[in-house]
Amino acid sequence: MEHHHSAPRGIAFFLFPLLASVHYAQANPGRGSIHSIFSFGNSYADTGNFVKLAAPLLPIIPFSNLPYGETFFGRPTGRASNGRITLDFIADEFGLPFVPPILGEEHNFTHGANFAVIGATALDLSYFYENNITSVPPFNSSLGAQLDWFQKLKPTLCSTPQGCRDYFRRSVFLMGEFGGNDYTFIMAAGKTLGQVASFVPEIVQSISAGVEQLVKEGGRYVVVPGQPPMGCIPIVLTLYASPNKKHYDPGTGCLRKYNALARYHNRVLLEAVYRLRIKYPATKIVYADYYTPVMEFLREPVRFGFSASSRLRVCCGAGGPYNYNLTAACGLPGASACANPATHINWDGIHLTESVYRLIATGWLWGPYAHPPILKAVPGSLELMTSSISEINTFSYASS
Ligand SMILES: *[C@@H]1O[C@H](CO)[C@@H](O)[C@H](O)[C@H]1NC(C)=O
Ligand SMILES: *[C@@H]1O[C@H](CO)[C@@H](O)[C@H](O)[C@H]1NC(C)=O
Ligand SMILES: *[C@@H]1O[C@H](CO)[C@@H](O)[C@H](O)[C@H]1NC(C)=O
Ligand SMILES: *[C@@H]1O[C@H](CO)[C@@H](O)[C@H](O)[C@H]1NC(C)=O
Repeated sequence: MEHHHSAPRGIAFFLFPLLASVHYAQANPGRGSIHSIFSFGNSYADTGNFVKLAAPLLPIIPFSNLPYGETFFGRPTGRASNGRITLDFIADEFGLPFVPPILGEEHNFTHGANFAVIGATALDLSYFYENNITSVPPFNSSLGAQLDWFQKLKPTLCSTPQGCRDYFRRSVFLMGEFGGNDYTFIMAAGKTLGQVASFVPEIVQSISAGVEQLVKEGGRYVVVPGQPPMGCIPIVLTLYASPNKKHYDPGTGCLRKYNALARYHNRVLLEAVYRLRIKYPATKIVYADYYTPVMEFLREPVRFGFSASSRLRVCCGAGGPYNYNLTAACGLPGASACANPATHINWDGIHLTESVYRLIATGWLWGPYAHPPILKAVPGSLELMTSSISEINTFSYASS
């Protein structure tokens, strides 16, 4: 630090090219070859669709209330978090604006669109009804519905089949996470976990077919997130609490069999990704892991900047062993947020805090939480980064 005082000129030289390149990146959105991001998914990816979709139908929407959004936006945006989510950090890394929700105020989707909806399922509403599963809320927001919205948007972005393929080959697509809500609604219909597991192939097939549709549109970069550890989600821990200690993982306190379901889903999904890579060798298909990072944060919270006492304890809640109460959930009267959300892992009993989403996004972009890391899959993006780092090194040598 001392030498800074003795070499102000050197520091000025060091900073100037850095500031210039930041300015350049903002003036020219899109890093490397990527000019847009299209996102499909549920509450882990929604940036404002559900609150618009549900506004005419529901008297109270918790996500429309503070403390949702308190940490970054200072107001509720429809994101199910205290601040930014994984998608926001990914858009930022590519020098693109936050991906606008398709039902929101922004109507210019040149740089991408977000179709994700809180509560969305991989399977269609009609599929659940045909199987007598009526615990699914009556919103048409499934993966299939989101792909229909994408088809309706398409003519505003490109006009000829070749023009569209050229457009989408410079987009990053995110397909998921999907499946978590399907399993939750099937469990809520009273099915045993064995019966729930029998839906895994069908759910993965739906995700796989969704990826395939994007590839056929010309998509070259598709990110497919898996399931987070379901047995570590406070709402699951509360609804399916067990008196038998053996049902809990000693290292984390998570319910083992629900984590086993998530791992089974992820295994089948990864196999589907392998098959798609063989079928479509020109497309980079990234498997993005939610499971490993969340388990690592729960096992060693302090190592990742979280408080040891928070772990499975919700930041925004209303008492009980996990600080989670279904009838007084975050955003409703009776619930309040902790003073330090940055040191918590879970935000509201279902979703994660901004600090967790940031760590996951970094791990998806650079590794080790995505296979391959997104920046390795997208050509040009790493080279750009490396060249600006060597530029910085050159200047620091020159000025010292
Ligand atoms: C949408 O945004 C892009 C890039 O920011 C701009 O070039 C284009 O003119 C905009 N389109 C409309 C219709 O405003
Ligand atoms: C759904 O319920 C109806 C009426 O009870 C029954 O006839 C039908 O077989 C059920 N379908 C399935 C897939 O279980
Ligand atoms: C959902 O979509 C189906 C088929 O398009 C339609 O029949 C149904 O009315 C829709 N439901 C809602 C709540 O919009
Ligand atoms: C959950 O919140 C409701 C409403 O505030 C309250 O009546 C109930 O006692 C709470 N339950 C628990 C287990 O704390």
